[in-house]
Amino acid sequence: MKKTLRIIGYILLVLLLLMAVMLYNIYDYTEHSVEFDKTKFASVQTNEKLDQLTHSLLKQMSLDEKIQQLYGRPLSDGMTLVINGLLFGRTPPVYGGGNERLNIPPYAFSDGPRGVRANKERTVGDKLGVTSFPVSMARGASWDVELEGQIYDVIGKEMRASGINYTGTPTINLLRHPGWGRAQEAYSEDPWLMGEFGLAAVNALQHHNVMSCAKHFALNSIENSRFVVDVEVDERTLREVYLPHFKKVVQEGNVASLMSSYNKVLGEYAGNNHYLLTDILRDEWGFEGFVSSDWFYGTHDAIASIQAGLNVEMPYQKVYLNETIEQGIKDGEITEAQIDELVFDTLRTQLKFGLANDPMAYPDSIIAAPDSIELTRIAAEKSMVLLKNSKIRNNNVLPFSKKENQTVAVIGRLADMENLGDTGSSKTTEPYVVTPFEGIRDYNKKLGNKVVLDDASDLSASKKLAQNADQVIVVVGYTHVEEGEFLLSSEEANKAAKLGKRTGPKTDGGDRESLKLNPEDEALIQALAKTNDNLVVVYVGGSAIDLSAWDSQVPAILFSWYSGMEGGNALANILYGDVNPSGKLPFSIAQQESDYPYFTPYTEKITYGYYHGYTLFDKENIKPAYPFGFGLSYSQYDYTELVVNTPEFTETDTLNVSVTVTNNGQVAGEEVVQLYLGFDNSAVDRPVKLLRAFDKVHLEASESKTVNLTVKAKDMAWYNPESKAWQVEKMTYQVHVGASSAKKDLLMAEFSVH
Ligand code: BGC
Repeated sequence: MKKTLRIIGYILLVLLLLMAVMLYNIYDYTEHSVEFDKTKFASVQTNEKLDQLTHSLLKQMSLDEKIQQLYGRPLSDGMTLVINGLLFGRTPPVYGGGNERLNIPPYAFSDGPRGVRANKERTVGDKLGVTSFPVSMARGASWDVELEGQIYDVIGKEMRASGINYTGTPTINLLRHPGWGRAQEAYSEDPWLMGEFGLAAVNALQHHNVMSCAKHFALNSIENSRFVVDVEVDERTLREVYLPHFKKVVQEGNVASLMSSYNKVLGEYAGNNHYLLTDILRDEWGFEGFVSSDWFYGTHDAIASIQAGLNVEMPYQKVYLNETIEQGIKDGEITEAQIDELVFDTLRTQLKFGLANDPMAYPDSIIAAPDSIELTRIAAEKSMVLLKNSKIRNNNVLPFSKKENQTVAVIGRLADMENLGDTGSSKTTEPYVVTPFEGIRDYNKKLGNKVVLDDASDLSASKKLAQNADQVIVVVGYTHVEEGEFLLSSEEANKAAKLGKRTGPKTDGGDRESLKLNPEDEALIQALAKTNDNLVVVYVGGSAIDLSAWDSQVPAILFSWYSGMEGGNALANILYGDVNPSGKLPFSIAQQESDYPYFTPYTEKITYGYYHGYTLFDKENIKPAYPFGFGLSYSQYDYTELVVNTPEFTETDTLNVSVTVTNNGQVAGEEVVQLYLGFDNSAVDRPVKLLRAFDKVHLEASESKTVNLTVKAKDMAWYNPESKAWQVEKMTYQVHVGASSAKKDLLMAEFSVH
């Protein structure tokens, strides 16, 4: 008996040891190099040579080897991701492609809308991390495309230093409704602003030979039912509203890759949608890169996806199975030539980037370098939007005075929280985070002021504190619990969509079902309203909110967003006037939720209409609470002398206008000059106006600048679904230039296209 027990014990021990070794192996995942051995390949200086090389490599591959190029990793590698993620909180890069025999290294994928998602081994143990920027919607509010280029320059460099050369960013899905859970990952409600930012991102990443994968193609503007929802859209709306920014990154940015979305478009999953992936993307736009699926639930039918033009299934081989593909070829449903075409796109792109010369080296020391961290602070400063700044006894509430011996109260659940937004695919691991309270506390140290933190758990105590303080900062808003990527299985999403409601408790992320703040935040604001003239409500979040219940009760409101690892310092610099706010809303804020288009997180079908955001409000004469493009500053900018330098031109020319902007305030600042085209004389139904150019200019106090803005005639076109063509109307257009999309903020002139 004893002997038997001993034997069982030994067996168990051996099994345990084996399991430990297995777990360790999964944990200790292999890092692959993505670098090509350039001595083994001919030069690919021209497109012709690149094509030749790709063809010759493809010719040397067996069908099996080709199929291997059609997915990220074998399904059996799935445990690596799960164990690293769930047990060790790590996100290894996901590898794809590669062929050792032919000296082709794999590519390595990471997400990255606010910084590198995949963390290096060393980032876990010693708490190092990557640079974490304000979320994309914040950056959209900066209206600073050059800044976006600088940000992605940092992200691109950190990707390369982390061994990554393929990235799931930028997210360029339109903010159709502010309740969309992943709003923070995108830039705007407006296709033009979105396109300009997307282009800056793609250019900067690809400069460092990181293949950018713009996502999610297309119409992915609802989160909770993303796996199942079928988006109906008419042809004009598709072309003019939901696709222009994708077209821009393809045609002007030569983006390496697109990610197909989970949802259906016009009855067909985007991952096997021939109309989107081949007819429009390749045949019309001339896309030469590769399309990868959104993860796990983005592929449904290998044959349909291959026919539609989906090059790569990510992250694992779930649907693109060898036997299905081989059978499909045998049955004549697909041909090997089709497989060749798909592999060709991916391989050619990989060779193009992998064999290009790098502009620099990418040592580890690049990651979270001091300059990059400084850039996150600058980005946060340039993104914050001052919505309201009342004048009380001749003085604006902000900037706060820098007097000494003051008591500063920082109040709210979120005041001292490390709160950078979504914890799904856009999450980052950063070395540290400066919370709003920490930034304000550190700033006030030099002034000798007392800074009191209050978590608002006792409203009457908070009220007393606010009444007795010299300055009050109330921090309200959301976290990744209220908004972000919704990590629900497709089965659950399906069930919820069918029922038209949530099936379980609200856990992490997803769409917001109400645009109001959480009840405890609303109650806090109401309790503190009118307690102190020097009070500002600081909103942390990634999209528009319904502030109707408390807007009129508070003297100042600042949108600070999820502002990145240096956000607290940026906030203090804005509040005390070291930095003049210059952000402008990248979306419209309605007076009431019902003013927005129909939206529900739980549905199997939805129609996206031609109008949303400011085009809807303009068309229907709905006054927003705060218009698209609006934001205050500590200066006063005046617009004069709008001159149309090209009053008459033809369809192939470019509109050129100039305007004088003067800083009539006491301090230097930056102003976002916006140009909208007006279509009053159109023969078809068109928006009242559309953003078509903008510039962010620096102006010293009392300085005037002439700002030039241009619009190509082709960007005035509408899409005629009958002739299937873009048409520039020959007529007189309005050009509106000014400080926001509100009529009162815009100068107007006219020009004609002949
Ligand atoms: C998201 C993508 C992301 C991918 C990989 C998906 O769930 O929708 O945006 O790139 O996961 O993390």
